[in-house]
Amino acid sequence: MNQLAVVILAAGQSTRMRSKKSKLLHPLAGRPLIAYPMRLVAELQPAQRLAILGHLATEVRAALDPKAQEVLQEPQLGTGHALQQAQPLLQGQCQEVLVLYGDTPLLRLETIQAMRQAHQEHGAVLTLLSGIVPDPTGYGRVLRDARGQVQAVVEDAEASPEQRAIHEINSGILLFQADWLWQHLPQIPRSLQGEYYLTDLIGMAVEEQAPVVAYTAPDPEEIMGINTRLHLAQAEAILRQRVAQRLMLAGVTILDPTSTYIDDTVEIGRDSTIYPNSYLYGETRIGEDCVIGPNSLLLDSQVGDRCRILASVLEQALLEDEVDVGPFSHMRKGAHLAHGVHVGNFGEVKNAHLGPGVKMGHFSYIGDAEIGAETNIGAGTITCNYDGTQKHRTVIGKKAFIGSDTMLVAPVQVGDEAKTGAGAVVTHDVPPKTVAYGVPARVQKKEPAAD
Ligand code: UD1
Ligand code: CA
Repeated sequence: MNQLAVVILAAGQSTRMRSKKSKLLHPLAGRPLIAYPMRLVAELQPAQRLAILGHLATEVRAALDPKAQEVLQEPQLGTGHALQQAQPLLQGQCQEVLVLYGDTPLLRLETIQAMRQAHQEHGAVLTLLSGIVPDPTGYGRVLRDARGQVQAVVEDAEASPEQRAIHEINSGILLFQADWLWQHLPQIPRSLQGEYYLTDLIGMAVEEQAPVVAYTAPDPEEIMGINTRLHLAQAEAILRQRVAQRLMLAGVTILDPTSTYIDDTVEIGRDSTIYPNSYLYGETRIGEDCVIGPNSLLLDSQVGDRCRILASVLEQALLEDEVDVGPFSHMRKGAHLAHGVHVGNFGEVKNAHLGPGVKMGHFSYIGDAEIGAETNIGAGTITCNYDGTQKHRTVIGKKAFIGSDTMLVAPVQVGDEAKTGAGAVVTHDVPPKTVAYGVPARVQKKEPAAD
């Protein structure tokens, strides 16, 4: 097996994105753009991996696989110039050099493997990955002779009107025989645009009659390069479709994939059903037999098995098994709902643990709190956790009954099996098995036991 080195070109300026940040960091189905070529590199398991950084290098570096070596390209004088920066590090270290672009996220491993096989079978010095696309605008065009042999790649900016009519485009992905590359890379001429085009190597190889292959990707979608936000939206749609397909084939029901937005980072268990207009983002994990949506948004949240989330928002929330939420509730950061918790409509929970079987049916805010198992939170209950400067905790025991419209002025504790009356404003602790009522709430005196 040949020793392979992979170089990712990631130094370019992203002018056409019109963005303050590098285009390689724009999110695509929940990951930065650069993460996709990085993943491809990881799948290829090459002997060497190298990233060429330049424009906004510090930011881009943070998103890189730590296994990749980095080289700075300064200034950025084109793709040929970018690869020239790799030569001192790689020359003599490998037999094949694969060039990937940081802005080409849809490529599949199988396509690269097929391209590499064609390269090796033909003993090529250079193999380029091409594709036949409906709209070739902006891409380099592949020129072939009457016999179909590749002649050159001409950049869009320098193509004649006839050449612009060609629909076979260069993906930018190139595989080289290393010795040939190191010999010819320094010879790339400066273009009319003042750049060094890597694609000029194709014409050079043809001229000296060295074997060159253009391997055409069976699915032209894969070779799309992201230059503008229009491309970004197109790639997002394709990736989302791929994610939905993967999940459906793994046993998840998605009623309408076109109106369901699931990040590539999300995991969902078997026999869960996702209704339309649901947004599952980031590090969200959903168990088996859940029903999510319609109209729900889950961000970085963990959901157990057999849960039901209807028209609600979860952000960094943790739900154990058999929890149901919604419609119209908001589980915020640090909400931890134990087994069998029921949260109905217009509930908000933040930084609070609701013990097993807690019921909170209507219009409540529970923040900075601990609620014991099987406690009932009446309609309109509020933890008054903020005094204008600090947050305070509310602790409620097991099997307590919090009457409708109770205000719990924290810090405060309500004991096991205690009750509060409707409209109580609780400013002092309520001992276990007592009843507190009124404004401010007082604990009901017990009748002395008759003997
Ligand atoms: C390039 C190809 C074009 C191909 C298209 C496919 C060249 C000259 N042109 O054009 O034939 O159809 O990709 O998407 O290769 N980069 C650097 N340093 C630089 C310039 C670019 O690292 O100095 C990196 C960029 O970060 C990017 C990649 O190289 O990841 C491609 O650069 P870009 O400017 O997007 O090239 P295109 O004009 O799209
Ligand atoms: Ca590009």
